[in-house]
Amino acid sequence: MDLIQRPRRLRRTASIRTLVRETRLHPADFVQPIFVIGGEGVCEPIDSMPGQYRLSVDELVKESVALYELGIPAINLFGYSEEKDPGGSASYREDGLIQQAIRALKAGIPEMSVQTDVALDPYTDHGHDGVLVDGEIANDASVEVLTRMALSHAEAGVDWVAPSDMMDGRIGAIRVALDDDGFEDVGILAYSAKYASCFYGPFRGALKSAPRKRDDVPEDKKTYQMDYANVDEAIKEIALDIEEGADVVMVKPALAYLDVIARASETFDVPVAAYNVSGEYGMILAAAEKGWVDREDAMFEVLTAIKRAGASMILTYFSKEAAIALRV
Ligand code: PBG
Repeated sequence: MDLIQRPRRLRRTASIRTLVRETRLHPADFVQPIFVIGGEGVCEPIDSMPGQYRLSVDELVKESVALYELGIPAINLFGYSEEKDPGGSASYREDGLIQQAIRALKAGIPEMSVQTDVALDPYTDHGHDGVLVDGEIANDASVEVLTRMALSHAEAGVDWVAPSDMMDGRIGAIRVALDDDGFEDVGILAYSAKYASCFYGPFRGALKSAPRKRDDVPEDKKTYQMDYANVDEAIKEIALDIEEGADVVMVKPALAYLDVIARASETFDVPVAAYNVSGEYGMILAAAEKGWVDREDAMFEVLTAIKRAGASMILTYFSKEAAIALRV
């Protein structure tokens, strides 16, 4: 008689399970997204994202030191702007909020890797990531403004710019502009496969950046962000961004897109990042509050799954909480 196969032997005790574990989380896997606001000494709780705050530049530097000490190597900055106009002009000012934040971080904690969001939605009065011409998001005109924004971040000393707008050709345009101005060491973390997702809702609350309900404004981002039914298209978008000069490519959101992360990491030889977005964070918090799941267990299961799927770095609002829990 054939010997019975007993895979359960490798699951028998905690120490055996540790030995055969295929995926391990480490604080160095995480990038903490942070919302930056004007003023001083501001640490404003975000209603739609419990546990996350809008920080003024001085508080941001303090928080970054704490994150770095926990082993988190990078932060990704988003600007909260009260100043909004059709062209998003507050996005590329030399003394703008994010530009000031980059300078303060580079002075206060130069070893922290600083990434900045490049998209116009917090800065436009219509809430879209690009500029509108005749009620449509105009691709090439948007790329011009986004390139200006990326350059202003490079001038302030950023390590990587992270274009999250999904316009065509923006990675190439930004790469060329950076190189022309002597910023060949500034990296590009490209949101390559960013889907038009309902899971960005809490984030749009944090920045008051949702597309406005106006006749002359498209009600959603579906003409530039991807259709969630598609995966071949994601592979095509990622290939284009790599060709145009992306150093790291991103899939976003993460949880409903683990197949996309897996295919991307199998197909390409550049690191793949995944964004565990605000709505994914919120679902765990809400279910935990109801007592339906354990918050920490759910957090670790989800983060491990994203890494298991092939992500080399995870942008997550759980960065700090997970890093603290991993230390003990
Ligand atoms: C905007 C941007 C969004 C997010 C990151 N950059 C929202 C959007 O595209 O509408 C979402 C992040 C999250 O939900 O955590 N360019």
